[in-house]
Amino acid sequence: MSEKEPGDEPSLLSMRGIVKNFGPVQALSGVDFDAPAGQVTALVGDNGAGKSVFVKCIAGIWEPDQGTISWNGEPVHIRTPRDAAALGIATVYQDLALCDNLDIVQNMFLGREILRHRFLDEDAMERAAGATLERLAVTSVRSIRQPVASLSGGQRQAVAVARAVMWNSKLVIMDEPTAALGVAQTAMVLELVERLSAEGLAVIMISHNLNDVFRVADRIAVLRLGEMVASGPVSDFDPQMVVELMATGASERHVPTQAVASGSAPAGTD
Ligand SMILES: Nc1ncnc2c1ncn2[C@@H]1O[C@H](COP(=O)(O)OP(=O)(O)O)[C@@H](O)[C@H]1O
Ligand SMILES: [Mg+2]
Repeated sequence: MSEKEPGDEPSLLSMRGIVKNFGPVQALSGVDFDAPAGQVTALVGDNGAGKSVFVKCIAGIWEPDQGTISWNGEPVHIRTPRDAAALGIATVYQDLALCDNLDIVQNMFLGREILRHRFLDEDAMERAAGATLERLAVTSVRSIRQPVASLSGGQRQAVAVARAVMWNSKLVIMDEPTAALGVAQTAMVLELVERLSAEGLAVIMISHNLNDVFRVADRIAVLRLGEMVASGPVSDFDPQMVVELMATGASERHVPTQAVASGSAPAGTD
């Protein structure tokens, strides 16, 4: 965790009034959210709160029914995953979608192989894959030519992240990245999360684990039943507060703060 003050610059990603309905089900009812560059924003909430639907609105899987999305202060429409990728938004889903029978390099270039004279350029792909893993300080894999099936859970997560960020990403969304991991592997993945933000990327981490959240998050956003009940710098929260906010939508001790890009908020308003 690092100390960063929100400046006057707009957040890399800023969402206002996001509504998403599925027939009569209002999954998101007017959500405001900011993800600044160089910071880890933890998105927390109970099952059914709307976390997955919300990140799918960022990833171009769903288009919101209402609301605005801006990117570096400019309004954008994210209608498809391709739109999201073009902006530099990468999503690492919980199942990771790696191919066990393929090696690390093959997984990282799956569907985007480098060709040279119509043949696979194995050297170029190895170099690029190796450089990305090195940049992310993923040093624990024996060989980038080992099949993904032979990797530990944390290493698999690292490969999925490396694949996501290799293509000039500016925002990485991670859905429960440590849910299936033991202590040591979790530490490795949290280091990776910190490394991404230290490199200037915005990271959105969905997590149920408040230990993880308080270890790496710069900001916390709490969703409950489709509403953003609290969001702000991690220093505004403690774990007990977050539990209360997730469960009831309120906490006696929590003082709501303004969104990161709202500029000078009038003091003393509730
Ligand atoms: N494709 C869908 N069709 C209808 N309802 C959905 C769909 N996806 C999610 N929902 C509903 O939206 C709400 C939020 O779901 P979700 O975002 O998956 O919650 P979370 O990820 O926080 O557990 C839930 O009530 C869920 O049933
Ligand atoms: Mg979910």
